[in-house]
Amino acid sequence: MTGVPDAAPSPKSIRRLRKEYALAGLSEAEADPDPFAQFGAWFDEALHADLREPNAMTVATATREGLPSARIVLLKSWDARGFVFYTNYEGQKGREVAENPVAALVFYWPEMERQIRIVGDVARVAPEESDRYFASRPLGSRLGAMVSPQSGVIPDRAGLEARLQQLATEHQEIAPTRPESWGGYRVAPRSVEFWQGRPNRLHDRLRYRQGTSDAWLIERLAP
Ligand SMILES: Cc1cc2nc3c(=O)[nH]c(=O)nc-3n(C[C@H](O)[C@H](O)[C@H](O)COP(=O)(O)O)c2cc1C
Repeated sequence: MTGVPDAAPSPKSIRRLRKEYALAGLSEAEADPDPFAQFGAWFDEALHADLREPNAMTVATATREGLPSARIVLLKSWDARGFVFYTNYEGQKGREVAENPVAALVFYWPEMERQIRIVGDVARVAPEESDRYFASRPLGSRLGAMVSPQSGVIPDRAGLEARLQQLATEHQEIAPTRPESWGGYRVAPRSVEFWQGRPNRLHDRLRYRQGTSDAWLIERLAP
């Protein structure tokens, strides 16, 4: 910080950060009429683009009064019913979803100059679906989920580690069962927007939203 407002930006200055986007476009002609198919096409490309965590997404929730909060979680599955992630039902997002069952999801894939925004209604997945996913997780992750009172204030790390050790000993022979406080949420989209970076900030934005019939309306939004 120089304190001088018009000082020349240093090579690492935020003022020098400026990217042109030119990798691809997204036209109405090429967009799939179905947002899930369009998501699938982009997600598949992201999977094959060797991104570090293409399934990482921001999930925004809000209290009943509308105070928002956001965090990253991992998308674990999706189909025409919606987008599924797993978490603790009693953490902050769990509490907010219980009183205000809506969420916004955002994927950002900078290497592809793409963003996807989803807004929808949230519901818990069926307990059997959570059970199946829980059982598929590595033992350490299962035990970790059992140990952590997610988003509660804790005195130190040592208590968590000790409890993990204890559970590991108890579960040497018996597989852990999913805690009721942990499971999946599915976000059933009301709208899905695909953003493709373009030159001169004239980005392509196509938003799908549910019309009056079953068909999705596709609208182009100004960048
Ligand atoms: C890359 C990444 C992936 C994450 N994946 C998950 C996840 O799948 N589920 C989850 O509950 N928290 C995940 N987290 C942690 C959350 O961001 C957050 O700290 C936690 O869910 C508590 O959120 P809450 O304050 O809304 O309760 C992840 C964090 C990062 C950075």
